[in-house]
Amino acid sequence: MSDLVLAIDQGTTSSRAIAFDRDYRAVASAQEEFSQHFPASGWVEHDPEDLWRTTLSTARRAVERAGGAQRFAAIGITNQRETTLIWDRETGTPLHNAIVWQDRRTAELCARLKADGVEPMVAARTGLLVDPYFSATKLAWLLDTVEGARAAAEAGRLAFGTVDSFLLWRLTGGRVHATDATNASRTMLFDIHRQRWDEELLRLFRVPASVLPEVLDSSAEFGTTEADILGAPLPILGMAGDQQAATIGQACFRPGMLKSTYGTGCFAVLNTGADAVASRNKLLTTVAYRLDGAVTYALEGSIFIAGAAVQWLRDGLGILERADQSGTLAAEADETQTVVLVPAFTGLGAPYWDAEARGAIYGLTRATGPRELARAALEAVCLQTLDLVEAMHRDWGGQGAATVLRVDGGMVASDWTMQRLADLLDAPVDRPAVLETTALGAAWLAGRHAGIWPDHEGFASSWRLDRRFEPAMAPAERAARIAAWRDAVRRTLTST
Ligand code: G3P
Repeated sequence: MSDLVLAIDQGTTSSRAIAFDRDYRAVASAQEEFSQHFPASGWVEHDPEDLWRTTLSTARRAVERAGGAQRFAAIGITNQRETTLIWDRETGTPLHNAIVWQDRRTAELCARLKADGVEPMVAARTGLLVDPYFSATKLAWLLDTVEGARAAAEAGRLAFGTVDSFLLWRLTGGRVHATDATNASRTMLFDIHRQRWDEELLRLFRVPASVLPEVLDSSAEFGTTEADILGAPLPILGMAGDQQAATIGQACFRPGMLKSTYGTGCFAVLNTGADAVASRNKLLTTVAYRLDGAVTYALEGSIFIAGAAVQWLRDGLGILERADQSGTLAAEADETQTVVLVPAFTGLGAPYWDAEARGAIYGLTRATGPRELARAALEAVCLQTLDLVEAMHRDWGGQGAATVLRVDGGMVASDWTMQRLADLLDAPVDRPAVLETTALGAAWLAGRHAGIWPDHEGFASSWRLDRRFEPAMAPAERAARIAAWRDAVRRTLTST
């Protein structure tokens, strides 16, 4: 019987594949890391063949462990967003490494565009700020720099895509060049209101329309895998960027519902329903999902360093052996010391967007040790989340934005961190029983289209709480910690 759904989750540091059964249980999975390339300061690249190879091998292993391709009804794809690829339509060969979302090589171009005053127009159409984070300037850089790229584009031989498009192309043997509305909404070339590629933006970034993929709903017929890839042809019926997939996997379907995912970075997403809310507080307006042609929008806050701060404690400072020890260490910190870490290792994202800022630690004394540093790193993640949630309330507060935060991602396994998050937010934090929310969201998009899973309501009723963390910190202590954080950020920013 074909009643399993395969979720392919192509992330920033690893590719994963998870098979879900009818009851949303993960019954088989596989994961593989791949190399990161840093060819210059602030540059981050992936080898497209690594993305493909690890996707293929993890998908094959998960399918095999679950009993073979005939057991599967559909595939859903989710992916690191914004990461930009170009490839030759005839040979399928990429012309360059993928330029990763974290890459800052186009910072100067972005600064020029801002000085030229185009940001209000770009923001009005795309919901985004002019920043190297998004695909448009990365694509412009590729077209201008890679030998033969522009000529191939003009001749209609070049394809552009984010990771979802590239994998779809490969999985379908080069038959389909498409993306979904959530991924398109991160390119800075897509009008999120009219739901189509924007000609003026294409002109601005000098991108020929011929390179663009077709934009489909997040739950749609994207194509069928080549028979030899997984052992039988399987339909690809779902696709969404990873943060949007997590929003779906957390069943944040009602306006006002809010989730936050703690991976390398942290991404908080607030469902705003059919309203594309323009942020006055430097959040992004983005497509949460598009189902049956109807768009649900979201406000998103992106922090670049979350779990990466713990990695730094482990690999940079060597004060941890394993990342999961950070909470235990932090719990033993001297509460009378006010040590604040501003983890601006690659600049600060929302709501500050200061690409030039760099990390700083304040309040060190002779008594400061690994415990206080661990606490400062974990608190920084919580305090940055507070910044995002407060910005969301300012942008949308009057309309009943939720006070409960649904969390997922590696860091949420730490009870200490989740309690501190609830304390600093002064709001409950809900940790779900199923932590594989990103993969589950992609799987649901596909399973829904295949007709094996119910629509929103039915799916939402299957969401289960593992534990709710209630705020318990004394108001004066909370206020003091927040004031110290704000002061530290102010001292770290390069511009106000
Ligand atoms: O916007 C970037 C985001 O999609 C990356 O997510 O989980 O691959 O680090 P992740």
